[in-house]
Amino acid sequence: MFMAFKISLVLLLLSQSCFAESPHQLLGKPADKLSQQGQWNLTITPDGKNLPKGKGNSAQGAKLFHQHCAACHGPAGIGASAEPLVGEVGSLTSEYPEKTVASYWPYATTLFDYIRRSMPINDPFSLTADEIYALSAYILSQDGIIANDVELNEETLPKVIMPNHDGFISFYPDKH
Ligand code: HEC
Repeated sequence: MFMAFKISLVLLLLSQSCFAESPHQLLGKPADKLSQQGQWNLTITPDGKNLPKGKGNSAQGAKLFHQHCAACHGPAGIGASAEPLVGEVGSLTSEYPEKTVASYWPYATTLFDYIRRSMPINDPFSLTADEIYALSAYILSQDGIIANDVELNEETLPKVIMPNHDGFISFYPDKH
């Protein structure tokens, strides 16, 4: 009993001396340090603002897709455990709507943003800008949204018109 009391006293004193140094829990990193890192302020707007320089085409993307994405998304972007990325264009108004990048996403620039910050899901931030342009080209060319020989870069990607571009209505029409 006395022993247990002594141990808890020691623990109490220890925890107090830890907190005495810092008024906060020592978790995470200060926001000002985070904001200087490359993984911050990455948002790419629909019109392509903040896209990095780089380039890639569908043939390059096909190889990368096989290496980094196919295990989860299927050999051609459909048919495995993760979300289908291609196909189903026009299905949204059918009895069985299927939301894929090709059928649902209104802006092609989102594809770059999404892949850069989160894919492959087990190794985010591992791909270069050129690789992400190539992967975007591969995914978009699967449904003929761009031709197979189109090079995507910071100029051409924002010009790609997605099939569902007009499928959204603005909640705040007077702000546009
Ligand atoms: C280990 C499995 C895994 C790998 C590898 C992987 N993904 Fe994913 N991906 C997922 C999962 C799971 C989701 C769904 C995430 C969610 O909805 O939150 C997803 C979602 C996506 C989406 C969004 C789909 C949508 O309609 O919302 C895109 C685009 C995408 N992945 C592209 C890629 C690309 C490109 C690669 C290769 C560089 C890749 N993924 C590799 C598991 C994976």
